Amino acid sequence: MAIKRLRTLSPAPIGSVADAWLERIAAGVADPSIDRSRFCREILCELAYPGYANNWETAVADAKIPAGTRLAIAALDPRNVTLEPEYYAECDDAKFQRVKPLLWLWYSFDRLPLGGQNVDLGVRLRRILAPQIFKKCGERFKAFQHVEFSFGYNVECGDDVVVHRHVLLDDRGGIVMGNKVSISDYANIYSHTHSIVEQADVTNAPTILEDGVRITYHATVLAGVRVATQGMVGAVAVATKDVRPYHVNVGIPAKSVRVKPNAPADSWAAARTMNVNDKSE
Ligand SMILES: CC(C)(COP(=O)(O)OP(=O)(O)OC[C@H]1O[C@@H](n2cnc3c(N)ncnc32)[C@H](O)[C@@H]1OP(=O)(O)O)[C@@H](O)C(=O)NCCC(=O)NCCS
Repeated sequence: MAIKRLRTLSPAPIGSVADAWLERIAAGVADPSIDRSRFCREILCELAYPGYANNWETAVADAKIPAGTRLAIAALDPRNVTLEPEYYAECDDAKFQRVKPLLWLWYSFDRLPLGGQNVDLGVRLRRILAPQIFKKCGERFKAFQHVEFSFGYNVECGDDVVVHRHVLLDDRGGIVMGNKVSISDYANIYSHTHSIVEQADVTNAPTILEDGVRITYHATVLAGVRVATQGMVGAVAVATKDVRPYHVNVGIPAKSVRVKPNAPADSWAAARTMNVNDKSE
């Protein structure tokens, strides 16, 4: 293994346009007097259907325009779409309707030629949106494309958190991430579960990822699990129980295969006593 730090790239030639666009979004989402659904629709219309940017209302109502086109442009306004969490019994409508336009902008941007793989612009856009969506968002939050949430408003994260592509952050019961948490591609973090007898019997339980935790690619953390400081869940593992500090847990169900070599000397002892119910693996 060798240390390979990320390179610094020169700004793209279109950089000043991107800066201005991001400034406009930052100002819009931070302004409590702005109608967020309309704002989100205007931003998306410029990107996806610029020909309708100045006449969106009349085009949506125009029977001469094909129905599919009218639906497509109507769906730029989040009031014309439903998101799955809106069906959940415990959805807090006041909170969700406030964040829904921002989630819709986030998800829709990722599906445009401009978005998706465009890392610099995407990271900067999501860094503007995340603090307006999450319960708490620390400094330098970094999310890659196609991250999804349940409510979004039940996410708390510390500083320097990185969430890679195609991660699911199911925050129905709440997700709390400390500083320097890293979640790799295609990982799933859940905070709700269903009874094996009655599917509608749902248990929400906060899932905690403490400072320095790494959830590696394609791993899943189930509801209510606490991954303690510097803990790691290996590729494709399913963490069904708590992970002890500095432990590396792998497999299904995930079990500890090692303690990181940089663990404090007392980490084995501390690990043994951290869970009074001995729920850790
Ligand atoms: C978790 C991980 C880092 C463990 O690496 P490690 O400490 O070098 O562990 P080892 O490779 O020595 O493996 C220890 C044992 O666990 C097993 N194992 C390791 N990773 C496993 C995994 N993801 N699933 C199942 N078993 C695994 C190994 O086969 C080995 O078993 P053995 O003792 O019977 O031979 C690594 O396997 C992994 O999953 N990496 C994911 C990619 C990554 O590094 N991500 C980091 C940031 S994105």
